[in-house]
Amino acid sequence: MYLQRRNRILRKNAAIRSMVAETILTPADFIAPLFIDEGTDVKTEIVSMPGYFRNSLDITVKEVKALYSMGIKSVLLFVKAKDETKDNTGKEAWNPDGLMQRSIKAIKDAVPEMVVMTDVALDPYSIYGHDGIVKDGEIVNDETVEALVRMSLSHAQAGCDFVAPSDMMDGRIAAIREVLEQNNFTKVGIMSYSAKYASCFYGPFRDALDSAPGFGDKKTYQMDYANRTEAIKETLMDVEEGADIVMVKPAMAYLDIIREIKNAVDLPVSAYHVSGEYAMIKAAAKMGWLNEEKAIVESLTSIKRAGADLIATYFAKDAVQLIS
Ligand code: PBG
Repeated sequence: MYLQRRNRILRKNAAIRSMVAETILTPADFIAPLFIDEGTDVKTEIVSMPGYFRNSLDITVKEVKALYSMGIKSVLLFVKAKDETKDNTGKEAWNPDGLMQRSIKAIKDAVPEMVVMTDVALDPYSIYGHDGIVKDGEIVNDETVEALVRMSLSHAQAGCDFVAPSDMMDGRIAAIREVLEQNNFTKVGIMSYSAKYASCFYGPFRDALDSAPGFGDKKTYQMDYANRTEAIKETLMDVEEGADIVMVKPAMAYLDIIREIKNAVDLPVSAYHVSGEYAMIKAAAKMGWLNEEKAIVESLTSIKRAGADLIATYFAKDAVQLIS
């Protein structure tokens, strides 16, 4: 048999494979999401996210130091608001002494080099568990945007590096950019959840923050997973409105979208490997049905290969250990 080209030559051994590997994960690829709780010395494992914890701020600060020393450059903060602070205005979200604001300050004080990103959406503060203000059973857009603007400004005042609006209201990126400009926060970035789908894969996250919607679902604001063109429309609008980084969420069931967006924009693209994606790997590994370590590295590599410049993942720490 004579073959002009034998593709297996480039797969012959580990050395050659590593020389021609097209996608290499590095610690700077990862954004580590952190769940923060009130109190001190509180560490609660999330039932549907085994091995992942909601920590009080003292423990969180130690964790951030550990993450930074491993080479992870960025954290994405989520807080669990106390029940008594929840209402239908979201006002706890811009309380200057709120848990989020205290967390931003404490983390930036302890590890100034860590890039601190903050979730912007009303769901942890909403009695309805929705990302916006509810009127007559509807999540109203424009009033919600006003709340998100106040929330973003208060995160900037507390010292965050990026606000990360995850709410999917229309027009919020332009409004947030404007308030940052007006208040001279010219170095605060916006990482927009531009193409965020209404996904069942957020289930475990809602356990972590006790933020499941009390009625209905999020399909009137988050995107229909049947759609691809719409993801481009949403993302291009956010670029136009002033986003610095755009995001696709979830990640693994949306690799085609990540690639489409990567080809369509000239900004860094991030992808959120969400709680349900974490839970699936953990559950299968626990059953002995998947090799957890291999599943983590293969999953994250595929997300980067699809076009993600940054990956928010609960496996950030594991991944750094596995690739080093
Ligand atoms: C809320 C928010 C969600 C996630 C990030 N921000 C949940 C939702 O939209 O219901 C999901 C993250 C994950 O599942 O890991 N605005």
